[in-house]
Amino acid sequence: MLSVLVLHGPNLNLLGQREPGIYGRVTLDAINRSLEQEGQALQVKVSTLQSNHEGALVDAIHDAQGHHQGILINAGAYTHTSVALRDAIAAVNLPTVEVHLSNIYRREEFRHHSFIAPVAVGQISGFGPDSYRLGLHALVHHLQQLAAT
Ligand code: DQA
Repeated sequence: MLSVLVLHGPNLNLLGQREPGIYGRVTLDAINRSLEQEGQALQVKVSTLQSNHEGALVDAIHDAQGHHQGILINAGAYTHTSVALRDAIAAVNLPTVEVHLSNIYRREEFRHHSFIAPVAVGQISGFGPDSYRLGLHALVHHLQQLAAT
């Protein structure tokens, strides 16, 4: 059975109360529960982790090796700042899909650049909590195609 690690970066623990005009009212727990359910339907194990700490996210990416076949990540603000996260993803060489609740290209210019995008399979941005669901489907489809080749 395929296993996927879902990583949430800084401030995403506050979803539901954080800037609801931008991020909506859905909590991180609700997003995680729906991803786990979606995983059951796709016959994929889904494990979730949130951290506000860059190093903890780097450690989680390293630890994914040998336990998960792919990573779904919303790196939050670290998307725009973290060479360390980008290098971790490149180092473990696990297919990674980048997601964002908001459309980062419609927002401030500093959000337009992603350090993650060049090492990701692809990016889904702007569909609210649905970005995660779409991202999970895209990742699983990609992993299944890899397995079939
Ligand atoms: C975000 C977008 C980032 O720019 C921001 O720093 C976040 C959330 C999103 O999901 O829309 O924390 O990744």
